[in-house]
Amino acid sequence: MKTYKIAVLPGDGIGKEVMPPALAVLNAVGEICNIGFSYSEYDWSCETYLATGSMMPADGMDRLSQHDAILLGAVGYPTVPDHISLWGMLIPIRRDFDQYVNLRPVRLLPGIRCPLADRRPGDIDFWIVRENTEGEYSRIGGRFAEGTDAEGVVQTAVFTRHGTDRIIRYAFELAQKLGRPHVSSATKSNGLFHSMPFWDERFEKMAAQYPATRTDSHHIDILAARFVLSPEYFDVVVGSNLFGDILSDLGPGVTGTIAVAPSANINPEGRYPSMFEPVHGSAPDIAGRNIANPVGQIWAAAMMLDHLGEAEAGRLVLRAIETALADPAVPRTPDIGGTASTAEFGAAIAAALHKIR
Ligand code: NAD
Ligand code: IPM
Ligand code: MN
Repeated sequence: MKTYKIAVLPGDGIGKEVMPPALAVLNAVGEICNIGFSYSEYDWSCETYLATGSMMPADGMDRLSQHDAILLGAVGYPTVPDHISLWGMLIPIRRDFDQYVNLRPVRLLPGIRCPLADRRPGDIDFWIVRENTEGEYSRIGGRFAEGTDAEGVVQTAVFTRHGTDRIIRYAFELAQKLGRPHVSSATKSNGLFHSMPFWDERFEKMAAQYPATRTDSHHIDILAARFVLSPEYFDVVVGSNLFGDILSDLGPGVTGTIAVAPSANINPEGRYPSMFEPVHGSAPDIAGRNIANPVGQIWAAAMMLDHLGEAEAGRLVLRAIETALADPAVPRTPDIGGTASTAEFGAAIAAALHKIR
């Protein structure tokens, strides 16, 4: 039996609540598919920061590097400024492990009310490929003329040719692999004078290498509108770090809820472990009540299985999610119209897994 070493970082808020159901589903699918998991759980979080002044220990990255993959809940709590907590753990993991692809599916699942009229499960089904290590997410810049009337800040965005080309290439390769040769680019080259004209130039150069792939480019403002007006148009959407971040809440919003959306932070070369997490955050507004929807975390675990080469197990988990959601008799959490707890909904998904095996 193959056994994978998984680093588990529940993090903060509902991260701690949605992680146990995801591990239970992983164990269940492991039994069915004869896969083993050896978990190391690390409680690094905002509580660690408040107690020690750092989000994770000095050897934290070393410890994580000894795993096949990382499963993360969420990071962030109101008593710690977000830029401190996120730049203290989540963002350094993405950057130091060169997880330059942030892959985020947008899919209308059965049993979830779509805010758009007349859409059925499967009608909305595309992939966001978000650049994950550079772009607008940067510590370069700073404050000037502090304390005077001229005070301000500069926040620098960085787009390298290497970084831009590799994410765009990943999007083209993904479209080809999916048999859906259509890539849409998110730009804003009318307003951002340096970065986005460069992005467009690199996108066009890459497109020339994939002549069988249809391409289009949309300024981010109209792209946001098109996500709402005609989400079925899209197959693969590639965007910078910030544009990809915004689009990957908007997409799931259009399919009814962000709570089910997963996210894979991938180092495609396999030099470092990749990290899997829900798109959503630590949701302090509902934390501690055991009502968070665990689907985003469970689907993230399915993406992890896929990445580890356990595609059949990944497919089974996704089918279990869909089977549970499609059955109105199955208990679900309040965000999608039920009254069940996180644990009850998670157990229902694990039960569906055994039914469909
Ligand atoms: P959020 O995703 O935590 O919450 C947004 C809204 O969606 C809230 O009303 C919340 O209750 C709801 N929601 C989110 N997940 C849900 C779930 N599984 N089930 C039911 N409802 C759910 O976003 P936010 O409020 O902008 O951020 C809260 C904190 O999380 C901040 O500290 C932020 O920086 C952090 N954050 C972390 C991550 C991450 O770790 N990857 C991602 C996003 C936000
Ligand atoms: C996400 C989150 C993070 C991001 C935050 C918490 C830094 O919103 O994973 O989408 O912007 O990447
Ligand atoms: Mn986000």
